[in-house]
Amino acid sequence: MTRFQIEAQKYIKSVISCLYLCAGGFLRKKHRPLLKTISDHFDLSAGPKPLVPKITIGDLLGNDISLKLTEVDAIEGNVVECELLVIAALVNQAEPSVCFEIGTFDGRTALNIAMNQPADGQLFTLDLLRSEINTTQLSLDKAEIRYIDKPASGTRFAGHQLAKKITQLYGDSATFDFSRFHKSVDFMFVDGSHSYEYAMSDSLAAIKMVHPNTGIILWHDYDSPYWPGVTQAMNELYLSDPEFSGLRHIQNTSLCILAKRL
Ligand SMILES: C[S@@+](CC[C@H](N)C(=O)[O-])C[C@H]1O[C@@H](n2cnc3c(N)ncnc32)[C@H](O)[C@@H]1O
Repeated sequence: MTRFQIEAQKYIKSVISCLYLCAGGFLRKKHRPLLKTISDHFDLSAGPKPLVPKITIGDLLGNDISLKLTEVDAIEGNVVECELLVIAALVNQAEPSVCFEIGTFDGRTALNIAMNQPADGQLFTLDLLRSEINTTQLSLDKAEIRYIDKPASGTRFAGHQLAKKITQLYGDSATFDFSRFHKSVDFMFVDGSHSYEYAMSDSLAAIKMVHPNTGIILWHDYDSPYWPGVTQAMNELYLSDPEFSGLRHIQNTSLCILAKRL
């Protein structure tokens, strides 16, 4: 085949695939990420544009990456596999004694953080009780009710040998009394409510909780088409608050990181 024939064949197959995608192929879950790819490529996204500078996974973690993983397969509501890998590697590298997570859900991130902490490390994870859905201090994003309205939080670590490292806390992150954790957390993971108000409030709580010079804060769902409130809040903090000027968006993930060493 000539080069022209190869390119012509590629063109025809791509046109047929696009027709299939638009005619109903997008109804299949496995094809939906293509819509995001197309919309990103043509800059069609309606949400806020990401303004936080990017850092590659390699620049963040270096070349020799060690980590342990468990409960690898994600369900809807979990971080995706690549993000779990970055979280586990960061914890493994930073060796944080005290970790705090906002947003337990089924406990997949909590369990993987605990697994990569030092043996005597402690992880606190806060979740909203389903009975409090209608009484939160700030407004929730309607699309996230399904992650809150569940029979139990932390089912993935219940009964696990690492559960002894994990303390489950319950409450609304906007009214929870975080004062006993101030300046004492080594690694913080913010993945609670995705509304703008909560992303702001949780971020301001997180910055008070971490060790001023060595603490690391990680956020989930930045630059996600589903959660514009998180992108807007992180953009605003990055642009207007000097404490957040070191924020970086980890490339090919929806994670943002703030760490003094970056
Ligand atoms: C997307 S899930 C977290 C996923 C989890 N980090 C993982 O990947 O394994 C969000 C969680 O935040 C919790 N949440 C939502 N609003 C909250 C609030 N105001 N205070 C505390 N937790 C909240 C929800 O109950 C839910 O469990």
